[in-house]
Amino acid sequence: MRKFLNLLPIGKQGLGLQEFVKRGSVTADFLGGKAGVVNCGVSMSKPFDFEIGKLTGPGSASFRPPLGLAPAPERRTFFLETFGCQMNDHDSEKVAGVLLARGYRQVDRPEAAGLILYNTCSIREKAAQKVFSRLGEYRTKQSEGKIIGVLGCLAQQEGEDIFERAPWVSLVCGSASYRRLPQLIAELESGNHRVTGLDLDTDETFETEITRRDNPFRAYLTIIEGCDKACSYCVVPYTRGPERSRASDSILREVRQLADLGYSEVQLLGQTVNSYADPTPRRMRFAELLLAVAEVPGIRRVRFTTSHPSDFTPDIVEAMEAQPKVCEHVHLPVQSGSTKVLRAMQRTYTRSEYLEKIGMIRSATRAIAITTDIIVGFPGESEADFEETLRLLDEVRYDSLFSFKYSPRPNTPSLKLPDVIPEEEKSRRLAVLQDKQREIQSARNGQLTGETFEVLVSGKSRRENQWSGYTSSNRLANFTSQAKELLGTYVQVRVTGATPNSLVGEHVV
Ligand code: 5AD
Ligand code: SF4
Repeated sequence: MRKFLNLLPIGKQGLGLQEFVKRGSVTADFLGGKAGVVNCGVSMSKPFDFEIGKLTGPGSASFRPPLGLAPAPERRTFFLETFGCQMNDHDSEKVAGVLLARGYRQVDRPEAAGLILYNTCSIREKAAQKVFSRLGEYRTKQSEGKIIGVLGCLAQQEGEDIFERAPWVSLVCGSASYRRLPQLIAELESGNHRVTGLDLDTDETFETEITRRDNPFRAYLTIIEGCDKACSYCVVPYTRGPERSRASDSILREVRQLADLGYSEVQLLGQTVNSYADPTPRRMRFAELLLAVAEVPGIRRVRFTTSHPSDFTPDIVEAMEAQPKVCEHVHLPVQSGSTKVLRAMQRTYTRSEYLEKIGMIRSATRAIAITTDIIVGFPGESEADFEETLRLLDEVRYDSLFSFKYSPRPNTPSLKLPDVIPEEEKSRRLAVLQDKQREIQSARNGQLTGETFEVLVSGKSRRENQWSGYTSSNRLANFTSQAKELLGTYVQVRVTGATPNSLVGEHVV
């Protein structure tokens, strides 16, 4: 990170370019050669030139391609595709940082890469299938001299079986072993054909010197890895290992660096982010950490996801009330509205305990948006249980939700449960749930017409004078403005209309 800070180009192309370079949102071409393209992800790219070699740190002099493979320079390029959640996206940013620090260059097509990496997801069967079909497309690539690696949850779940199923793969590394990634890459570079990182017993989190961040407006920051809950349907405790919290001083140090780089919004990440337990003698509580992050000079917004209802304590709402920089949004997965199903899911709370948490959040003076995750068709979910979930939607009136059909996953306790729900019935329930939620969102967003919100502008449409960004409550707002340049700035937007998934508005100057 510091390397980026110290070597910023000065006086190039005005604010836009410099800001995006500062934030590390740069394409591979930039990081590999003397000149390149800066890409802010919102259709802006500009050429520039300065010495890139210094930015990426020393490369590995010991690199030798495996016998019979293509020559070295072309091979020190990588293509990285990410499947799955925000944690995976952020892990990929760190993996890219590790590789860039070793002198690799990122490319945007697997054809152009010497090293092809897939950061995978196995949370539902569909996600896992997608990874295997993508791997299948690269069956012939190894013979072209490319190295193929599988990272993330599917790597952890399938382990060395991946070599059986896809013998053209050379690297299999689960997220709990990312600390070993530089070493594994060094082994590959020295010609080792099969390397694995599959230990789950690490008590360290994955911290890197350089994280190459993709989003120039919102910086993601993992504060807790793994999960100690034992939901009966979930692979995460197996694929990401036990819960490990990052030291509060290290988190705050990175937030200060992010602020220096020009980020004003940070999002704290964890599978159960609010279960955070500071390992340092300071023993900072999660709510205290939120406040401490918000107090870092330059930080204007702090977000966090995902919260677990059982660990959602009143001091979190108090922190949100006390500090407007803590964004007014809580993602609080309920999974089901039926206590019977929640018990079978081993979710550690009942419907009424969950609703107490909702009551606590709703009693705040701020209009805190609440979103959730729901699984339909869990084994044993009767029509009456499903209707309890629908009634919960009416009661809570979520601002948005992610809904999934139950997907049986390897090694999980729910695999053994009787009363499996047929696939068609799961699909029917999903459609009913989503229709209901669409109506709720239309009504909720519609009620906001006439109100004014602060929006962090993160997108510029090709259509003239059209911009987009997110409110503190994480609603997408599409709005008109006559201003010349707004990206990365905070503006006031008056809502003039709404769709189920977004607000429509105009810039109030
Ligand atoms: N089947 C369906 N959905 C699942 N989720 C986790 N595991 C499964 C599964 N086996 C959903 C939960 C979780 C979200 C990230 O994914 O709703 O909150
Ligand atoms: Fe999975 Fe439950 Fe942990 Fe969430 S809390 S990651 S659903 S085990």
